[in-house]
Order: sequence, then structure tokens, then C-alpha cells
Amino acid sequence: MASAIKLWGGRFSGKTDPLMDRFNESINFDKRLYEADLLGSQAYAKALSQRNIITTEEKDILVNGLEDVLKEWREGTFIIKEGDEDIHTANERRLGELIGSVAGKLHTGRSRNDQVATDFRLWAREETKKLLVYLKELIGVAVERAKKEIDVIMPGYTHLQRAQPIRWSHWLLTYAWSWKEDAERLTQIIDRLNVLPLGSGALAGNPFNIDREFLAKELGFKGVIHNSLLGVSDRDFVAEILFWSSVTMIHISRFSEDLILYSTSEFGFVTLADAYSTGSSLMPQKKNPDSLELLRGKSGRVFGQLSGFLMTYKGLPSTYNKDLQEDKEPIFDAADTLSGSLQITSGVLSTLTIYPERMRQGLSPDMLATDLAEYLVRKGVPFRETHHIAGAAVRLAEERNTTISNLTLGDFKQLHQAFEEDINLIWDYEKSIENRCSLGGTSKQTVQEQIVKLTKWLGEN
Ligand code: ARG
Repeated sequence: MASAIKLWGGRFSGKTDPLMDRFNESINFDKRLYEADLLGSQAYAKALSQRNIITTEEKDILVNGLEDVLKEWREGTFIIKEGDEDIHTANERRLGELIGSVAGKLHTGRSRNDQVATDFRLWAREETKKLLVYLKELIGVAVERAKKEIDVIMPGYTHLQRAQPIRWSHWLLTYAWSWKEDAERLTQIIDRLNVLPLGSGALAGNPFNIDREFLAKELGFKGVIHNSLLGVSDRDFVAEILFWSSVTMIHISRFSEDLILYSTSEFGFVTLADAYSTGSSLMPQKKNPDSLELLRGKSGRVFGQLSGFLMTYKGLPSTYNKDLQEDKEPIFDAADTLSGSLQITSGVLSTLTIYPERMRQGLSPDMLATDLAEYLVRKGVPFRETHHIAGAAVRLAEERNTTISNLTLGDFKQLHQAFEEDINLIWDYEKSIENRCSLGGTSKQTVQEQIVKLTKWLGEN
């Protein structure tokens, strides 16, 4: 394409290398910003007419013309043409074709630098709001299951070794709490990014005393960015969204990892619905948890987008640099990944079958060794001693090739005089669970309290 017909072609006499044209253009991905771009331009046309830079008539022609361009995008009839370097160029080119030379007044005092920064924030605000809805749905699914399956108990693990009995619902709510924090974090990010760059010009500000407060109100921003240099160059919100995406994916990935383990024949605690599993092309018996493996795998990809963007962002000199065009694909990719992942996680969790009997079979009396130590504590023996005594009981049982619950009162008395007949009562998993009734513990009441809190939060948010 001859440089003379480029938006910025005036000062150039030579042609750009066609390869450079393709290297430079972003339309293939930034066309996603079409709506934000057109809404931003409509608001800007109104602001220009307020300052009498254009007439009311011209403003109306611009606003209506932009509406027609929007309709074309929505109906899929917008045709991208050679020379449409990016979404801003494409929309302005099409506007000119539809309404003629008035289109050339729209960009007065504006630069693609403040335009793209505005479009991107508008788009990010709306996109992340959708993710917030999916996230809340997921929390709702976890809370519902926890409520329904509150009586199911299972082994809890540390170091992947059987540790203590816990409620299945308690395990589930771990993730519900993390996702709640993710939702809160995202809400804060949305609030922070919701400030207006438009009116910053290329870098130095707008020469027509444009009413930026008006523009902010028109576009739903809570305020303006108070420094034009920052307005065109600040992409902290991109870093924040990518970091948020990464942390949310960590929670999804760890959740998936747990369920992948629990779905193995060795555990047998859960099976995935057919809707979220696939078979093997070779082994007919296989049912693979592909959904969970993809969730775990896709987390890596999101972290990659975060670190890639940070590399691009660091060390940029003040204000706009073309490097910043590289801010979009990471977020587009992360947003698509999060959108899919959140919905699939909800699907997997809401359709999962659990096997309470298998979970119970995973419990063994040695998991009550801590309860044994606590029994002695209640009899007045210092914990450091009781820990040692309970350890000796575990060893004795192992030597006899039996479980600690099979040791006799006599055996226990040999270990410490404080043991009495009621030692028999501690070999009860439910009781062990119910003992953990301090706030945040796995007892029924404390799990119910968690459910109440999370349900209340869901209702208010
Ligand atoms: N496509 C560009 C971007 O995404 C738009 C801004 C171009 N500004 C410029 N001075 N070349 O960053």
C-alpha cells in the first residue's frame, strides 16, 4: 500500500516494505475492540460538539454513522480492507465511506494513543465482568455441593499422606474461599482500571479544552487519569488482570489435581461425568479426566502470558511506544482461557459422582493418633509428652502387625497411667471431626458456618 493513503502518511515519501505493513498491523486481533472503539468515538464526537469544534449537525452525522458501522460489525458484514492497519483505522475508514468528509473531523485533538488506551480499558472492564459472573457461578456450585454432602467424610492429606479425617465439604470449600478471594480481587481491579485516558492526546493533552469529566461519565468511567503522559502509557491493569488470571488458574489447577488423584482407581473417591471425560483410542477400558488435565495444563499458558507481557512492559521509556501493541493478545488469550476454564470447572463439579463408602474406606485408625495424644492432653498431660506416647502406641501396633485401635487398655496403661476405660471412645472418625469445632475447622457446625457466610456473600455480590 502506498504510504500516502495511510492515516499518518503525510510526512512519508517512500513506501513501507509489505512485510513491514503486515508486521505493523494489529487488525487481526484488535478487531475485538470494535464496539469499545465505536462507543468511545461517539462520546468523543459529542464532546467535540460541546466545544463547538463541530456543529450539532455534524455531531449527529458522526454519531449515526458510527452506529451504522457498529451494526455492520454486529451483523458480520463489516469488510476489513487492505490498509486497515488496526481497528481504529478500519472504523474511521469505513465511517468516511458511509458519511463522507465529516468523518475527517472526528479525530480532532485525539490520537490513537489515547484512543487505544480508552478502548482497551472499556473492553477489559466489560470482559472481566463476564468472568466475574462465571466465577460466582462456580462458587455457587461448590457451596451447593458442600451443603448437600455435608455428612460425607474422607481422609485429609498432608504431603499426600493420610493425615486426619475431614469432611468432603470442608475440602470443597477450600476452593470456594479461594475463588471468593479471586472474585474480590477482580472487583478491585475492575474498579481501579475504570478511569478514562481519552483527552490525553498523543501524550501532552487535548488542545480543545475537551470536557474529560463528561467523556468519563458518557463511557461509564468513575473518573479520569490525571496525567496525560500516564494516560497513554499506563497498562498496569493488563498486568493486574493477567496476574489475577494466573492466581485464579492456580486455584483451578490445584482443584483439578486433587480430583484427578481422587478419580484414579487407587483412590476411587469420585468419577467424572461422561460429558467431561474422554476414552482412549487404544485401551477400551479407559475413562480419562481430560477436562481436569486441560484445566491444569492451561494454567501454564496463562502464566506464560503474564510473564511475556511483563517483559514487554518493563523498561519502556515514557508514554506510548509501539511495544504496547503487544499488550492485547496476552489478555485476549487469558480472557478466553479463563472464560472456558471457569465454565468447564463448574460443569465438572456439578456433575461429579462421589463415592462416600470409598472415602470412608480410605480412613484408618492411625489417622486418629493425634486424637490419642489429645485424649491425654485432656487428662492433663503436656502435649509434647502425649505426642511421644501416641507415637509409641503407633510403633507398638506396627510391631504387632495390628492397628492402634486394637491395643488393649493394659497396653495403653503401660505407656501412661492416665489412660482409662474411655480410651475406647476415641476410635471414632466422626468424633475426631466434630472435635475440630474452632472457627474454620472441619466439624459440622463450623462447615455450616462457612456455608452460611459464603451463601450470604453470594447473595450480596
Ligand atoms: N494499534 C495500536 C496499538 O494497539 C494503536 C495505537 C497506535 N499509535 C501509534 N502512535 N502508532 O497500540
